[in-house]
Amino acid sequence: MSAAPSSRGEAVARTPDLAARAARVMPGRQSNLRAQPEPPVFIERALGQRMWDVDGRELIDFAIGMGPGIWGHGNREYQDALHAQLEKVFVVASGMLQTEPEVQLAERIVQHVPCADRVRFVTTGSEAVQMVVRLARAFTGRRHFVRFEGHYHGWLDNVLGGRVNDEAGAPPHALENPADPMHTEGRAEFSMRESFKIPWNDVDALEALFKAHGRDIALVLMEAVMTNGGCCIPRPGYLERVRELCTEYGVVLCIDEVITGFRMGLGGAQGHYGVTPDLASFGKAIAGGMPLAAVAGRADIFELLRTNAVVGAGTFNAAPMSMTAGLTTMRMLERDDGAAYRHIDTMQTHFMAEFRRLGHKHGHELLVQGVRGVFCVHFSALPVAYSARDLAAHADRTRSTRLRAALIEEGVYAGRGDRYFVSAGLTAPDLEEGLARIDRALARI
Ligand SMILES: Cc1ncc(COP(=O)(O)O)c(C=O)c1O
Repeated sequence: MSAAPSSRGEAVARTPDLAARAARVMPGRQSNLRAQPEPPVFIERALGQRMWDVDGRELIDFAIGMGPGIWGHGNREYQDALHAQLEKVFVVASGMLQTEPEVQLAERIVQHVPCADRVRFVTTGSEAVQMVVRLARAFTGRRHFVRFEGHYHGWLDNVLGGRVNDEAGAPPHALENPADPMHTEGRAEFSMRESFKIPWNDVDALEALFKAHGRDIALVLMEAVMTNGGCCIPRPGYLERVRELCTEYGVVLCIDEVITGFRMGLGGAQGHYGVTPDLASFGKAIAGGMPLAAVAGRADIFELLRTNAVVGAGTFNAAPMSMTAGLTTMRMLERDDGAAYRHIDTMQTHFMAEFRRLGHKHGHELLVQGVRGVFCVHFSALPVAYSARDLAAHADRTRSTRLRAALIEEGVYAGRGDRYFVSAGLTAPDLEEGLARIDRALARI
């Protein structure tokens, strides 16, 4: 399709040339994560959940930008709204200048998200999390926060990686772990000592931590569904107990909804499980693909921002294009009493059942688990995995790595962490084609 003809007339693949040029000017030839061993793919265009690379090769895309693409690619209504906004306002300086979509979007979030009395917009999920940490510390006058094994909250020093210290009686700070893909050099000196890190979905571990350190803890920071560590759902009663303990000890509870927000439903994971945190961070699907993130939460905590006791700044906060993208996403999600969500449910139920069946057909026991909009596939005989430890003990990572490589060769691009994202733009023919390719990939590994 788009391969350029050579002087002798045959098509010359553009990917190797782009990869070589990229490697000369970008570390690991790209701008995200660490250098990947996978073959390079340069995307030229996309529609729904299909993409085409610069050499005309077609991929079914189950990553959709690792979550933002709740409409898939190239949704006409979404694009038209962005074009119209682009014609009206291109740049609005940060500070006192605002647009109407900013107000409308904040109103919609307050209407839909249970914990949201107030909203502040930022640009990335990482920033939203850092604002949460600062707000919680200022609100409680305490220093430490709690994070959990298998969760991800952005790339900054104080939340990235580290392993739980399992030694009896050891301080509950994370230990550096060079084997972890999230290990980084160059952290600030005390960043690992700002937080306590414990296993997730484990009431005993949290109770013990609170008993020993509860009055030093400003914040509990968690995903309500461990979407970054195998798509594990909370054990029955776990979130409720976390809520109770935080209230009892005066600890701010934040549910990090950067993946679950507006994907699991308009109320996010907190709406789904009926457990209301004090703060929540949002990103990704909130704006369907444009850069936008937000913090929402209790009015008394947000007083700190209103009075400027806590600073939350950013040149691109509430940028007009992102506001329009967010507002359009909200309107489209609300439409016909959640028709977009019903479509996602229908496609995903079929997708998950077929994945299991195909695994069985090729002699693999697959654990296929997740929540609306995202699921994970593990080579495991477990009926359900509740934690990173369950998966470390009972899932075969080697076969997962082989499947990912085979899928790329067959023309399927899965999300990192064995994740499959389902958008409202996924069509039945694209899903069937994706399943046919998954069938072939499973046959090969
Ligand atoms: C739960 C969660 N929180 C925070 C982040 C960080 O968001 P961003 O990559 O936009 O900085 C992510 C990103 O994957 C995430 O999954």
